[in-house]
Parts: sequence; C-alpha cells; structure tokens
Amino acid sequence: MGRERRLFVAITGASGMVYAQRLLSVLPEAYHRVYVTASDNALDIMRDELGVHSLEELIPKGVGSSFSVFSPADLYAPPASGSHDYEGMVIVPCSVGVVGRVAAGVSNDLVTRAADVCLKERRKLVLVLRETPLNLVHIRNLALLAEAGAIVLPASPAFYHKPQKLDDVVDYVVDKILCVLNAGTRLMPEWCER
Ligand SMILES: Cc1cc2nc3c(=O)[nH]c(=O)nc-3n(C[C@H](O)[C@H](O)[C@H](O)COP(=O)(O)O)c2cc1C
Repeated sequence: MGRERRLFVAITGASGMVYAQRLLSVLPEAYHRVYVTASDNALDIMRDELGVHSLEELIPKGVGSSFSVFSPADLYAPPASGSHDYEGMVIVPCSVGVVGRVAAGVSNDLVTRAADVCLKERRKLVLVLRETPLNLVHIRNLALLAEAGAIVLPASPAFYHKPQKLDDVVDYVVDKILCVLNAGTRLMPEWCER
C-alpha cells in the first residue's frame, strides 16, 4: 500500500479567502489527510468575504473525514513537528505579516512553527501572497524565504485563458498551487501550442 499523502493548509489574514475555499474543495482528490488552521484575523476576513462563521464551514461536505482542523495556538498539532510525516504546507491567502514572522524565525504559533518545520525539513512551503504594492521589507522577507526554499506564489491570476466568471479567475490561481505541490490533480488544461 502507498504512503498516506498529507498536507497542511494554513489560512491567514489576507484578502482572498475564496482561494482557500476552492483549494480545500479539491485537495481530497489528491491527499488522504488535509490538516487545516486559520489565524484569528483570517476568521474575521473569512466572515466578511465568504459569510462563514467558522473554519469548519469551509470544509467541503461529504469528505469531512479527510480533514483535521486545529487551533492556530495548538503547538501539539501534528504539523508542528518535523517527526510527523507530511508533504508540506500551503499558506493561502498569505499575509505579509506572516511572511515577516516566518522570515524572522518566529515560531510562536502553529502557522509559523509549521512553516519553520517545512523549511528545516526541506518540505514544500507555498506562500500564496496577497498584497500590493510590496514595500522593501516585504520584498527582502520574500527573497529570504525563497532562498530558504519556500515557493512564493502571488495570488496573481492570468487572463490568457479568457475567464468568463469569477470561478475561472480563482481556479487559475488554485491550479498553480496544485501544480507546484505536484498534487497530481489539476483544475485547468495545460497550455499547448495552438
Ligand atoms: C479586511 C482586511 C483585509 C486585509 N487584507 C490583507 C491582505 O490582502 N494582505 C495582507 O498582507 N494583509 C491584509 N490585511 C492585514 C492583516 O490581516 C494583518 O496584518 C494581520 O495582522 C495578519 O495576521 P495573520 O498573519 O496572523 O493572519 C487585511 C486586514 C483586513 C481587516
């Protein structure tokens, strides 16, 4: 039997909660277990942007058994330890605040500790950044994290695929996340020569 595929998704206080919602909806196609947490700021923005009042409401119906939800304060959660076998972590959307804390090595909650674990264990750490414009502090922090092995994936949709609705725009970004994770499932057809 193959190894159980496990991924950690952390939702932080940036705009773009719909990216997290869509990613969670598709991950059970690729992963046996998805660990999830959301910062307190993320929960506030989730309420504003999606009208949901808890992280559990973001978990897709029918596949709930694939998910484990943790408090962002829970440093006993499995992804907080390098000895727990999981493939990596996606921070989506990723605030510049959490970028700064991870870049500074501050590991005082589950999000920053697991990010630290992923870097030290050389596992995937995908930062779906949502901020614009970027100041020099953001850029230096991102450069440091990229040098340490993180994948900086700005939530920056393209338009060459001629999106017809908001879902198409969202899917473009979520598809990029799935690609860099090597998830083995896609939302968009790959680009081919015309
Ligand atoms: C409505 C709203 C939207 C926000 N959007 C962003 C954003 O897109 N990017 C960002 O980096 N911070 C954004 N912020 C600021 C962060 O929420 C704030 O810096 C917070 O401390 C981040 O906390 P966290 O990283 O612990 O989730 C937003 C705040 C609010 C209230």
